[in-house]
Amino acid sequence: MQLLILSVLFIFGASIKLPQNFLKCNRSDPDWKKCVFEAAVHAAPQFTKPFPELNAPNMDPYFIIELSISAGSKTIQMDQNFTNVKIYGLSRVEVIDFAFDFGAKTIYLEGIFPEIKMTGMYKFNGKVFLLPIYGEGPGQVIFRNLKANMTAHYEEKKKNGKTYIKVVSAPLKMIPGLIQFQHDNLFDGDKTLGDNINQVMNDNWQAVYKDIEDGYTQVVQKITVNLFNNFFSKLSLEEAFD
Ligand SMILES: *[C@@H]1O[C@H](CO)[C@@H](O)[C@H](O)[C@H]1NC(C)=O
Ligand SMILES: *[C@@H]1O[C@H](CO)[C@@H](O)[C@H](O)[C@H]1NC(C)=O
Ligand SMILES: *[C@@H]1O[C@H](CO)[C@@H](O)[C@H](O)[C@H]1NC(C)=O
Repeated sequence: MQLLILSVLFIFGASIKLPQNFLKCNRSDPDWKKCVFEAAVHAAPQFTKPFPELNAPNMDPYFIIELSISAGSKTIQMDQNFTNVKIYGLSRVEVIDFAFDFGAKTIYLEGIFPEIKMTGMYKFNGKVFLLPIYGEGPGQVIFRNLKANMTAHYEEKKKNGKTYIKVVSAPLKMIPGLIQFQHDNLFDGDKTLGDNINQVMNDNWQAVYKDIEDGYTQVVQKITVNLFNNFFSKLSLEEAFD
């Protein structure tokens, strides 16, 4: 723990170089766009371990101590609260596009995640498809063939002659191919009632997603913006690119 604090203090305020694990692209290179795309393809699978120098945690699984997905208005009339959440599969993204636009100050990301699995302890109390529901226990949500695209808008800040960027907004669109829900121990362990609710949610996953898309989107936006901002808080554009 002490070692960790020391190393965090040590890098605080200091600018760092791009770690060797990542490909460096040259902004004046005619093949610049292709290089950035390849750098993203090359980087994604590496996030199965943390990069402390970039303040980047392990992304696969990505751990969240507490997570709340906001209620919808139709099918899911309750906040979905989870603790000790692990998200698996982020590093296995198939990158479709990754592009910096320094003029527009945007980063465009597009990818397909074959499988995103979220596990954790849930606590529910509300209504699902107008049926009262309550319970707590282990839960799991699997997104299959999740298509996602995001346009991150950033601001620049100059420090010691270097340019640092900070993402300020990141509109995101996610289109899952399928969602599978499994919440164990609903209704204090009444298996018949619990199985029923899981079945109803699975049979109607599209309606469920439509109702709570905003909640999911906000969570993913937060993770992505955090990752970007941590990554680029010490790493200037001049160090990230030639
Ligand atoms: C970047 O590319 C330009 C144009 O091809 C070249 O002149 C320059 O030396 C390159 N910079 C580095 C660090 O390779
Ligand atoms: C879920 O979290 C919200 C916000 O923290 C809280 O108001 C609500 O009571 C929680 N619900 C359950 C069932 O714990
Ligand atoms: C996602 O892609 C669609 C279709 O190309 C586009 O219309 C939309 O603006 C994109 N959304 C974001 C947030 O980049």
